[in-house]
Amino acid sequence: MRSSIRTRLLAAFLAVALTAAAGLSVYFLKELEGFALRKLEERLDTEATLVAELVTEAYMGDGRLQASETDELSTALQTAGPEISSRVRVLDAEGVALVDSGGDDGIGVGYGKLAEVTAALTGEYGAATRITDDNRVALYVAEPILHDDGVIGVSYASSTTFSIIALLQAYRTRLVIVILLFVVVTFALTEFLARWLSAPLLELSQGAQAFAAGDHSIRVTPMGSRETRAVAEAFNAMSDEVEDIVRELKEEERRKTRFVSDVSHELRTPLTAIRGAAETLLDGDVPADDERRFLETMVRESDRLARLANDLLILQRIEGATGELPLRRVRLRVIADRAIEGLEALLDERGVTVSIEGDAPTVLGDSDRLQQVVANLLDNASRMTPRGGAVKVVLAEEDGHAVLSVLDEGPGIPEEALTHLFDRFYRAQASRDRSSGGAGLGLAIVQAIVQAHAGTIVAENLPDGGSAFTLRLPSIGD
Ligand SMILES: Nc1ncnc2c1ncn2[C@@H]1O[C@H](COP(=O)(O)OP(=O)(O)O)[C@@H](O)[C@H]1O
Ligand SMILES: [Mg+2]
Repeated sequence: MRSSIRTRLLAAFLAVALTAAAGLSVYFLKELEGFALRKLEERLDTEATLVAELVTEAYMGDGRLQASETDELSTALQTAGPEISSRVRVLDAEGVALVDSGGDDGIGVGYGKLAEVTAALTGEYGAATRITDDNRVALYVAEPILHDDGVIGVSYASSTTFSIIALLQAYRTRLVIVILLFVVVTFALTEFLARWLSAPLLELSQGAQAFAAGDHSIRVTPMGSRETRAVAEAFNAMSDEVEDIVRELKEEERRKTRFVSDVSHELRTPLTAIRGAAETLLDGDVPADDERRFLETMVRESDRLARLANDLLILQRIEGATGELPLRRVRLRVIADRAIEGLEALLDERGVTVSIEGDAPTVLGDSDRLQQVVANLLDNASRMTPRGGAVKVVLAEEDGHAVLSVLDEGPGIPEEALTHLFDRFYRAQASRDRSSGGAGLGLAIVQAIVQAHAGTIVAENLPDGGSAFTLRLPSIGD
């Protein structure tokens, strides 16, 4: 499993904190050590110089430093030794100890080979540090004892001090405690930071999981850093898009399912009627009058099936077509004339008159299809208009569009039907009776044709009763 943000932060924090702590500690301890050593060297130098002065003053009668003459100094230094915490020796011109504050055992030991002593014997200042066996730092300072411009001996002071290693060892337990404290504080800080940093990511990942599981309405709140906000916003934008697409797909799916069930339903009714009539006739013993009626039913219902099949085919062709309409210059006035002519018999039968007013500019279109549009509108209008009524076709130009309206004297369109009128198989309440109309495909065909011509069609109720269907097509001028 991949480590969490928390674990990674913790590792990074611990690494940084411990490295920083260790680095700083070592640096400051080293500085401190250096400072302490410098101070100690200054003190030793003072002592060495002091002893050198004393020796020069007191014992230089013959210009030589003799062991026999230093007893007094030896006693004085050995008495003061424990108080001054450093060790002072007086060496002769060969580097052999004549006086030692540490005790008479040190007298006679030769130091001539040590670098600091060699330096002092040539009249220079000499100093050295060495690490002792018990891990302490020993500091040595050697000052020449001068007489008549010559070096007659060396004043040699030394002392030991804590080394940093010894210091660290002495403070071991405290160091462990401090490190533990560090770790605890780091843990707490990490916990806090990890929560703070990962909270927005957690919300994001939960959102994404819910989304993947099918809840497309889920959105996340952009929060946290600029980066996590950007991710959240991108996620939301993506969700919007996917939700839309899914909704459209579902809608499309629903439409298809409904279409198939509508078609089946429309087929079943006439088929049932035909089958019923045929069965009755097959049974025989039908009076001549009824026989004719049954046969008429069969013919009428067959016609209806044929019309339905035809309408579906037209709809399918128009909606499946990809811009292959044969477009010609067309005048709506001519189209309307032809449509009326084609419906003459039907209009006579319904006792409805149709008139045309005005004119509209030329459009580009398929005249057969446009004639079908007008015929469908006239069919509906004349069916809804009472016998003896009138239907008007009004042509006009409006904003570079050719406009054609069909106005009737029918009952108008129920408010709730206005938005569904152009749906397939939609029949408004007023004409539920199937025998009076088609399958509800007429206006769907009209709309499909108009849209294929980049036009629009709207239905509305007229203030004095009746309804108007108005179609607008882009005009190409006259
Ligand atoms: N001029 C009109 N006045 C009132 N209602 C109409 C008019 N034209 C159409 N409608 C309503 O719209 C419905 C759909 O019309 P249409 O698609 O042509 O189907 P159909 O004519 O097969 O019923 C009709 O059933 C009718 O209720
Ligand atoms: Mg119709």
